[in-house]
Amino acid sequence: MLSPFANRLGIEHPLIQAPMSGSTPPALVAAVSNAGGLGSLGAGYLEPQAILDQAAQIRALGDRPYAIGLFVLPDEFEADMAAVAKAREQLDALMAQEGLDVRTSLPARWAPRFSDQFAALCEARPAVASFAFGVISPAQLGELHRRDIYVIGTATTVAEARAWVEAGADAVCVQGAEAGGHRGTFLHSAEDAMIGLFALLPLTVHALAAGAGAAGARAAGARDVPVIAAGGIMDGSSMLAAEVLGAAASQLGTAFLTCPECSAAAAWKQDLLQAEDHQVATIRSFSGRAARGLRNRFVEAMPEAAQGLPYPVLNALTAPLRRAAAAAGRGDLLSEWCGQAASLVRPQPAAELVARLMHEYRLARRALAS
Ligand SMILES: Cc1cc2nc3c(=O)[nH]c(=O)nc-3n(C[C@H](O)[C@H](O)[C@H](O)COP(=O)(O)O)c2cc1C
Repeated sequence: MLSPFANRLGIEHPLIQAPMSGSTPPALVAAVSNAGGLGSLGAGYLEPQAILDQAAQIRALGDRPYAIGLFVLPDEFEADMAAVAKAREQLDALMAQEGLDVRTSLPARWAPRFSDQFAALCEARPAVASFAFGVISPAQLGELHRRDIYVIGTATTVAEARAWVEAGADAVCVQGAEAGGHRGTFLHSAEDAMIGLFALLPLTVHALAAGAGAAGARAAGARDVPVIAAGGIMDGSSMLAAEVLGAAASQLGTAFLTCPECSAAAAWKQDLLQAEDHQVATIRSFSGRAARGLRNRFVEAMPEAAQGLPYPVLNALTAPLRRAAAAAGRGDLLSEWCGQAASLVRPQPAAELVARLMHEYRLARRALAS
């Protein structure tokens, strides 16, 4: 039987392939959606025209519901150019020392303008829009709902989940501390918002079921807002565990990184297979924003001047270095984002992975019932 959440979105499985900016090409998104899950295009780094082009490619590969994910950021960023110059010098020296023939350069913009990305998302009109790093405005939410686009907001604390519910989100995705990639945190320091999924999920489910009211009383007019679980989920039994704790669906990122359709660099995919849990750390080294990934050579050797640069300034400066590292097969110099259970990846085509996850989920369900 379809869950109300899956039913509303027109998907077969309570399974979302996470938007992973830079690593979720149309082929991966479409493969997951065509297999009955919800594929998501991570569009945080895409310019508006690229969002439209990739959305068209997804639609051409199958007419199933899919999501587009954006980072909620200001349109403009100020940078301390003296600090940038110093950081560039040290980053270039590190690349030279590591034998990589690449230098930093100043980009035309530090990041694409969020308002232009948002307009492109509205035009592309996916079934689902998901957001991280902040909350959208009531006017933006209204624009999405007018187009019948379902809105998922990312939260790393109960307060952030409440902020999304108050903003009118249709569902909240709770991102546990285990999760790979950037922290979605926007109301707290990254350090304060490192809450494990087994605490964050039931806390959020209880808080939202109480309609954000005090003393557990359900507020009048409270909406039922599905909670989606993300962070360290790599197999069907973990999906069921999340469901038992109240999740309407599971969102998996790292599990899809080793699919052949995923554009993650070959060296990154290879390193995930051997990743040990204690090597998967929360770092700011590549982007200036807290994110979970492998503590590799670049992280260890990160020059001091670059350490102080904020997101997205540092992210833009290291982009060409990371591209060169990927081309040279140097996993140790690129941002190898992953969740805490990274080494549980199973390299296989996305459709097979979806079928395998759902098979495991059903087996675990039967085992619990017997
Ligand atoms: C490589 C990578 C890139 C990510 N990029 C995004 C993104 O663009 N937008 C977003 O909302 N979440 C992003 N995330 C976080 C995921 O949405 C999700 O919280 C996380 O993958 C769940 O943990 P797991 O990787 O252990 O499954 C990213 C995660 C990874 C691993």
